[in-house]
Amino acid sequence: MIKHLLSMQDLSMQEIVEILGKAANLKQKLRKGESHELLRGKTLGMIFAKPSTRTRVSFETAMTHLGGHAIYMGWNDLQLGRGETIADTARTLSRYLDIITARLFEHDDIIELARHSSVPVINALTGLHHPCQTLADLLTVQEHKGRLKGLKLAWVGDGNNVCNSLMLGCTLVGINTSIGCPEGYEPPTKIVKRARGNAAKSGARIEILNDPKKTVAGADIVYTDVWVSMGQDKEKRRRLRDFRKFQVNSRLLKQAKSDVIFMHCLPAHRGEEVTDEVIDGPHSVVWGQAENRMHSQKALLVSLVTEVKR
Ligand code: CP
Ligand code: NVA
Repeated sequence: MIKHLLSMQDLSMQEIVEILGKAANLKQKLRKGESHELLRGKTLGMIFAKPSTRTRVSFETAMTHLGGHAIYMGWNDLQLGRGETIADTARTLSRYLDIITARLFEHDDIIELARHSSVPVINALTGLHHPCQTLADLLTVQEHKGRLKGLKLAWVGDGNNVCNSLMLGCTLVGINTSIGCPEGYEPPTKIVKRARGNAAKSGARIEILNDPKKTVAGADIVYTDVWVSMGQDKEKRRRLRDFRKFQVNSRLLKQAKSDVIFMHCLPAHRGEEVTDEVIDGPHSVVWGQAENRMHSQKALLVSLVTEVKR
C-alpha cells in the first residue's frame, strides 16, 4: 500500500519516533560531510498553489543532498491552472515521479490528489494541516529538551493549520498541550476530538483556553504563528483587532518556565503575534527550527519512497 502524509494522524507514535531518529542521523551525516545519497535517481514533484520560502527550499535542498532531483511546479505553470482536474494531474504526474508534495488551499484537494496518485503524496500545507512543520517542530523540541513526553507546549494565537498539526503531533507523542485562542478562533471541533483521542492513548493532557496567561503558565515551549494566514487577507482588519491580547511578548513569556523555548513556524509578522525582543531573544529557537524542516523532510522522503519499494 502507498503511504501518504496528509495529516499527522497518518503517522503512529512509533513512526514519528523513527522519522525523528532518522532525521537526527541524517543531520549528523550532513554536519560531518558524509554522503547520504539514499534517493539517487529519484524525483520529487512539488505543486505549489501558495507562496513558500522554507518548505520549497528545504525540500529542494533535501533532494539534492539525497542524490535525487526536485521539480517545482507553480499551480498556474501546470494545466491545473487551466482546468485539468486534480485526479488527471495525479494520474499523469505519478507516471513520472517517485513522490509528490503539494501546498494547496483546500485540504479535500490533497485528499483527491493522493487518491489518484500511484506514488506517495506529502502535504506541504493546506488550509487545515501542516504536518511537515510538526515533524520539524518535534525534532527541535527533542534537541532542546532531550525528550518529548511530559513536556508542556502552549500555543498562543489562531487555531489554524499549524496549530491543528502540532496539536495532533504533540498528543500522539505525549506532550501536554494548551491551546490559547481568542473566542471563535479555536481549532475545529473534529480535530480537537482526534487530539483528545490521541491524548487518551499517550497519556497527554490537552486543554483549549481563551486566556493567554493561563495557557502559557509553566510551559516548556511557547509557540505562535501569524494572525492572518495565506488566503485570509480579507479578514485582516478584524483579525488584527481580535488577536491583540494574544501577542507573545516578554511579559507573557515570563509566565512560562525560566528555560522555556520560543517557537514559530515562520514567516513572522514582527510586532503582531510576536515582538522583536522575543523572536530575537535568548529563548528563541526559530532558526534552528526552520533548519530542521530540511532534516526531518529528508527522513520523511526516505521513509515514504523506501516504503513503496517494499
Ligand atoms: N513554515 C513554512 O511552511 O514556511 P514557508 O511558508 O516559507 O514554506
Ligand atoms: N498559518 C500560516 C502558516 C504559514 C507557514 C499560513 O497558512 O499562512
